[in-house]
Amino acid sequence: MAHSVTLGLLLLGLSAAPTLAAELDPQTGFVIAPGWETVRNNCTACHSAKLVTQNSGSREHWLSLIRWMQEKQGLWAFDANTEDTILAYLSSAYGPKEGARRPPLRAEQLPENPYRQPAKTD
Ligand code: HEC
Repeated sequence: MAHSVTLGLLLLGLSAAPTLAAELDPQTGFVIAPGWETVRNNCTACHSAKLVTQNSGSREHWLSLIRWMQEKQGLWAFDANTEDTILAYLSSAYGPKEGARRPPLRAEQLPENPYRQPAKTD
């Protein structure tokens, strides 16, 4: 009796485990979550889905990538709804990484360097 209870709990644990991992679309590797098909339909025409899935960041990060592709790479414009679906999906399924390093400071954000010397020319 004790054994079958243990076995039952074990099986319960095993059957529950796969739901913890995100389900991936076997073709593209996209995390299956609301909006993923919109992203597949709009984001794999020019490059591999890998380029998308290996990137991560905030909504602002994804929006800036989209604007860059629209300005420089011929990405089409989205209506507001589609854009919102895409950004919500990307920033949640491929959001900022926990513990990721902050991006480096830009030159104008650095404090003055007290040790800077004119280059020696002799
Ligand atoms: C019209 C073509 C086109 C479409 C559609 C497109 N992209 Fe791109 N994307 C590009 C090009 C071109 C590059 C640069 C590829 C390279 O550097 O090899 C790029 C690069 C990227 C990168 C890498 C940026 C980096 O920092 O290196 C990401 C991430 C990305 N795209 C995401 C997306 C997402 C998300 C979508 C859908 C909203 C999308 N792309 C749709 C053309 C497109």
